[in-house]
Parts: sequence; C-alpha cells; structure tokens
Amino acid sequence: MQAHFSILLIEHIGIDSLVKKTIISPESYTITQLSDSTKAWNFLLSNQYTDLIIVNINLPNKKGFQVSFEDILGKIKTHPNWKDIPTLIIAHQDTDKSYLENKIIPYANRILLEPYNPLRFLDEIHQLTADSVERHINSLNTQHTQLGVQFNKILDLLSKAPQDQTIIRAKFHYLAHVINEHFLFEETYMDAHHYPDYQQHRGEHNILRDELAKLTEGKTPINLSSIKKLFSQVFGDINNDAVYIEFIEKLKDNLTARSR
Ligand SMILES: [Fe+2]
Ligand SMILES: [Fe+2]
Repeated sequence: MQAHFSILLIEHIGIDSLVKKTIISPESYTITQLSDSTKAWNFLLSNQYTDLIIVNINLPNKKGFQVSFEDILGKIKTHPNWKDIPTLIIAHQDTDKSYLENKIIPYANRILLEPYNPLRFLDEIHQLTADSVERHINSLNTQHTQLGVQFNKILDLLSKAPQDQTIIRAKFHYLAHVINEHFLFEETYMDAHHYPDYQQHRGEHNILRDELAKLTEGKTPINLSSIKKLFSQVFGDINNDAVYIEFIEKLKDNLTARSR
C-alpha cells in the first residue's frame, strides 16, 4: 500500500535515524532522509512536497555546509510555499538553552529533547500531520468562499449599466488568476497524497482551464451569460471537492486515532 504522507528527515545516517525509521509507520509515511541542511535546502528548492520536516540539530554544522539549521528553518518558515510545513526539532538535553530559545524555537512547531520516549515522538508526528491536514481543509474552504466573493463582484458589475469593459476585464483577469491558483493548490495536495480520483479531478479542472483561456483570449465574450455559466461549472467542481475533502478527513481521523 502506498503511504499517503511524507516526511523529510534531516539527520546523519546512523543508528538514530534507523531507529526513527523503524518507529514511524511505513504504511502512513514515506521518509526522505538527507544528511545535512544544504541537501535539504536543495531538496526544497526543487519544489518537492513534504508533510513534515524533522530536524536533528545535534549534528554540528561542519565546515563546508553552506546552510546552517537556523538558516534553513528560517528560510522554510518565511517561504510562501513551505511556511506551513510543520517542523519537529530533535535536540540534546544539554544543548545551549539560549541557542535553542533564540535560534531554533522561533521556527519549531515542536521540540523534543533527547532522550525522549519513542511513543511521544510518534505521537508528535501524528498530531503535527493531522493539524497540517486540518489547515489544508481550512485553506480549501477559505479559497472556495473567496471564489464566490470574486464571482459575485463580476456578476454584480455585469448586471449593471453602463458597463466599463476595462474594469470588467481587470476583474475577470483577477478571477481567472484566483481560480487557476486554487486548482494548482488542490492538485498539488491531491497528487502528493495519492488521492485515488486525482487524474479524473484534474481532467475536470483542465476543462475549466480551457474555458478560462477562451474567455481570456476573447474567443468567448465576457458577459453575464458566459460568467454565469462559468460560475455554475466552478461550483460544480466545488461540489465534487466534497468527495476529496471526505478522503483527506478520513486520513486525518486515522492519524488522530493513532496519536491517542
Ligand atoms: Fe477541484
Ligand atoms: Fe476546489
């Protein structure tokens, strides 16, 4: 069975990481292990998705490493695509307190001091992932509401006279941008979490992308009837999203059940 979630583990390859990999349930998580922060930075730059980042900061930043742990954590937490990825930090009990407080804790969602209870470690992983799924669902719902707001704005303009074509086109361009960004957001998550109906759902998005392109290029006129039609198609897609939300809700419930 394919694991639905993924973890980026930044830690030296050794007994510690082997133990972690044994504890983390392989049926739920795929683990990518990178042995230093520079490799992790390159991994994230190549835009690969991950649900959780675990960093063992015990590793001294050896000479030649271009990116320190605090650098990479700071970059992750300020990057638009990665800022919401939860981070679990592992540190030695005797790690300098002021270093932890000033450089690490501001970027850590959770911190575990060694030696820690493996069950607590597992519990944190499940909880952080479940919280992240919850945030994704909230973002989806917010984006759907936003789509409704943008549609209402343009429909309102189109139902009034006189109509300023420049303003209408500007509003339409913004609406098209919001729809395209939303589809990409949804598809990235569906693909990364092996949503079984991903290809079909993407196909439906593509039909709408074609409609948007025709409107943008002027092949279809932007008027009350064409935007009303687009509105009903987009909201048809939002209705189909309910099946997808149900799927990720189930994944989240499984994680929550494991963390008790
Ligand atoms: Fe969708
Ligand atoms: Fe959607």
